Amino acid sequence: MFLSFRNCFPSTFLLISFSHLAGTADRILSRRTKRELASPLHVGGIRDPFGSYCERRGGCCPGRDDLCTVPYLDTICYCDLFCNRTVSDCCPDFWGHCLGVQPPHIGICERNGNRFFTGQTYKENCNLCTCGSSGRWECEQNACLIESDMINAVNRGNYGWRAANYSQFHGMTLDEGIRYRLGTQRPSRTIMNMNEMQVGLGLGDQLPHYFNSAEKWPGKIHEPLDQGNCAASWAFSTAAVASDRISIQSMGHMTPQLSPQNLISCDTRNQGGCAGGRIDGAWWYLRRRGVVTEDCYPYQPPQQTPAEVGRCMMQSRSIGRGKRQATQRCPNTHNYHNDIYQSTPPYRLSSNEKEIMKEIMDNGPVQAIMEVHEDFFVYKSGIYKHTDVSFTKPPQYRKHGTHSVRITGWGEDRNYDGTSRKYWIAANSWGKNWGENGYFRIARGENECEIEAFVIGVWGRITMEDMHNHHHHHHRRRHI
Ligand SMILES: *[C@@H]1O[C@H](CO)[C@@H](O)[C@H](O)[C@H]1NC(C)=O
Ligand SMILES: *[C@@H]1O[C@H](CO)[C@@H](O)[C@H](O)[C@H]1NC(C)=O
Repeated sequence: MFLSFRNCFPSTFLLISFSHLAGTADRILSRRTKRELASPLHVGGIRDPFGSYCERRGGCCPGRDDLCTVPYLDTICYCDLFCNRTVSDCCPDFWGHCLGVQPPHIGICERNGNRFFTGQTYKENCNLCTCGSSGRWECEQNACLIESDMINAVNRGNYGWRAANYSQFHGMTLDEGIRYRLGTQRPSRTIMNMNEMQVGLGLGDQLPHYFNSAEKWPGKIHEPLDQGNCAASWAFSTAAVASDRISIQSMGHMTPQLSPQNLISCDTRNQGGCAGGRIDGAWWYLRRRGVVTEDCYPYQPPQQTPAEVGRCMMQSRSIGRGKRQATQRCPNTHNYHNDIYQSTPPYRLSSNEKEIMKEIMDNGPVQAIMEVHEDFFVYKSGIYKHTDVSFTKPPQYRKHGTHSVRITGWGEDRNYDGTSRKYWIAANSWGKNWGENGYFRIARGENECEIEAFVIGVWGRITMEDMHNHHHHHHRRRHI
C-alpha cells in the first residue's frame, strides 16, 4: 500500500491564498456540502477506468479534504480518504493508487476472452449490450431483421422456399426494416374503388403454364434496382413498370430506365420521399410532368438520416400536344440526354389471376401492392408464402408493412404427388443479391400477401415521332 500525504495541499497555503480563491473555494464548498447527496460518479460504470487522476494529481489526501480534487470528464473527482466512505466521488484510480486494492462495484464482463468494465458496450446483431455493474452483459431485446432461428426454421420446414442471411440487413431491427425498406402507402378508399379494367378474356385465350416478360421482350425488361435504406418503393416500382412498358411499346426504339430519384426528389406534393409515398401520386407525376432516365438523374441513397430527400434537380415545361421538355441539364454531368418520358393514366386490373396474366402477356409487367411480413426479408429462393415460424414469438417479432413491386411473369412447379404450385415472378427493389437475382416467386391465385388485390397497368406516351427521333439517337450513337 502506498499512501502519499506529502503532496496534499498544505493548510497554510490554503489560509494565505483564501482571499484569492474565495470564489473558487465557495463553489467547491457548495459542491462539497452536496457531496454525500450527489449521485455517485460511478453509477452506470466508471467511464474512464484506466485514467490516472490521483496519480497525476501527485497523490492522495488523508481524512476529508474538500480541495483534494481533480477534473474528471465534465465534473470533478476526489482523492481524499473521505471519498471512500460514500464510494460516490472517488477518482477511478483512487482504490488502486491510494489504497492498492480493487475498486468496489465495478463490474468486469467477459467476452471472447477479453475483459470489459461496467458501462462498456458492444453490438450483437441489432441489439446494444452493456456491461452491467454486476459483471453481466445486459442486452436490448429488439426483434432483428435477421434472426438466425427464423432462417433455420424456414430452411428446416417444408415451406417451399429457402431463407438466407443478408449482410445489408444484419444489424437492423425489424422495425427499421419495415420503416426503411418498404415505403408504399396503402391506396385511399377512393383509389381502391377505382374501376377495374376488363381485359376481356376470350374463351379461346390460352394462357401458357409459364411466361416470363424477360424472355418475350429481351432487352426491354429492366434489372431490379436497390432502394437501400430509403422507403421509396412507391417510386421504384412505378419507375420500373413505366420503363418496361415504354420499352415494349416503342418496340425497343427507346429502352429508358426511368429515374426513381427524379420522383423521390421532385414529386413531393403529398409524398414522403424516402419516408413512403403513394403510387397514384407517382403516376400522376409521370403523366403530367414526366421523368428523365436513371443515368441522367442517378439514384443517391440517403447516407445519414434515412428519410432525407435531395433537392429537386429536374423540371420540365410543356412543348404542346401534352409533351414536355426538360428545363435543366442532367444532374449527372456526363449525360446529355435529358429527354422527358411520360405515361398515360394508369388503369387498375381486376384481381382475377387470369386477367392479370393476360395483361402481362399482352402488354408487359404490372405494378402490384403487397404486404411484407418479417420472414420476407430473408427470402432467398423458391415460391414464397408467409410462414408461421414467428407465430410462437412475442408480438414484436411479427410485423408487416405495405410495399409495391413489379410482376413480370408466372409459372407452375409440379410436386411429387402430381399437384402443382402456381407462382408469380416479381421484381423487388432490394438489389440483385437479394432473392433470385433481385426477383422472387410468390404463390399465385390465392392473393398471397394481398399481391393480387391492387394491380396496375399503364401505357407510355409514345408517338411515331418519338420512335423516329429516338431511333435516330441510337443510330447516331453507334457511329460515334
Ligand atoms: C475503502 O474501501 C475499500 C473497498 O470498499 C475497503 O476495503 C477499505 O477498507 C476502505 N478503506 C478505508 C480507509 O476506508
Ligand atoms: C449474417 O451475416 C453477418 C455478416 O454479414 C454475420 O455477422 C452474422 O453472424 C450472420 N448471421 C447469421 C444468422 O448467419
